Amino acid sequence: MPGDGIGPEVVGEAVKVGGGLVEAMGIPMVFEEFPNGANHYLKTGETLSDHTLKRLKGFDAIFFGAVGDPRVKPGVLEKSILLRMRSSLDLYVNLRPVRLLKGVSTPLKIPENSSVDFVVIRENTEDFYVDMGGRICEGCSSVFEYTVETGGAKGSRYRVEVDSMHGEAFQIGVISVKGAERIVRYGFEYAVRKGLDRITFVDKANVLTEAYGLWREIVDKLGVEYGDRVRREFMYVDAAALHMVLNPGRFKMIVAPNMFGDILTDLGAAIQGGLGFAPSGNINPESVSMFEPVHGSAPDKAGMNIANPVAAILSFSLMLEHLWSRSGDKRLLEASNIIETAVENVLASGRCRTLDMGGDSKTSEMGDAVLEESKRLLFSGR
Ligand code: NAD
Ligand code: IPM
Ligand code: MN
Repeated sequence: MPGDGIGPEVVGEAVKVGGGLVEAMGIPMVFEEFPNGANHYLKTGETLSDHTLKRLKGFDAIFFGAVGDPRVKPGVLEKSILLRMRSSLDLYVNLRPVRLLKGVSTPLKIPENSSVDFVVIRENTEDFYVDMGGRICEGCSSVFEYTVETGGAKGSRYRVEVDSMHGEAFQIGVISVKGAERIVRYGFEYAVRKGLDRITFVDKANVLTEAYGLWREIVDKLGVEYGDRVRREFMYVDAAALHMVLNPGRFKMIVAPNMFGDILTDLGAAIQGGLGFAPSGNINPESVSMFEPVHGSAPDKAGMNIANPVAAILSFSLMLEHLWSRSGDKRLLEASNIIETAVENVLASGRCRTLDMGGDSKTSEMGDAVLEESKRLLFSGR
């Protein structure tokens, strides 16, 4: 689902690289394209139909570009396409690796013996993303009723009565026991699988004491099971932002509620060289998952063949790794590793540099270079 703006351009490159490599490896992979996005919406009035959503459930994975278009009111496409997929498909894990690759410059001064290499696991279905809120005019009384449609609180009913003195807007954030437990558990298991011995759990429990108080309780409860194998620390999100800039090398893994995870991963993208390098996976460990670059549709760069496709290409690599974990087909893991190494080699060699890197290589030239390097690695047996 290429979507809007630079979406189709970067998805085109990722499919060229990933599809080209798996084809060369003799792995059968069939793609079907979905038109959802601004143009489709402006033409038909449809964002993401129930029918399409149902069909998406039948795929092994979804590869997504980005949505958002200046012709459409902010939030319409983002909420009804992207967030709807995350909630309806219950993609509760948002995996966002933050890695500064050789050959990529960062605005930070990174000491010789340090690195930017950690992963952020963002809860992806609840918190302030549950879509419960309202506006009340001055002197008005209103009753708002909601049924939670996403995350671990799905089905819970909320009723809010407001007598407004001055006119206001409110938005409710929800942390559920089930929602927090499953992401925290996923975090600990991920650490064990990847041999990471420390997790930083981010929150704002000093102010949002109810929601993030529950979050901390659950981290402590599950953390006991992992004992010394995976140590845990808590950090307030404001301090986390500070440390990500001053000393990113201290992080191995961050687990964060939805909104703080959103914000910190754009900061993460900045320190890994920009949004052009930040991949992500929206994962439901039991079902179809969706992979996409962290960046949006970048309307200012659309249609000019100048966007950096690396974030999308690395997202494709994450998708292949995920498909390996679901199918057990080792060739998929090999393909994932080859793409990652190919990206590293191309960037380290400096032979291709897009506009965001201060160069003048085209989007398609970056894709060509990574595909060529991937095939070289494949046929040279690495
Ligand atoms: P954005 O990520 O699209 O762009 C932020 C900045 O980074 C812009 O200067 C852009 O040119 C640059 N940039 C982003 N990706 C790049 C790439 N691959 N190569 C080079 N430069 C890149 O964020 P925004 O400007 O806040 O949002 C634009 C639209 O995208 C909005 O409609 C927003 O809601 C939407 N959005 C969608 C998603 C998504 O679908 N996943 C994510 C974020 C934003
Ligand atoms: C992201 C984006 C989305 C989010 C928006 C576009 C709804 O910023 O994927 O990080 O807030 O999750
Ligand atoms: Mn974001």
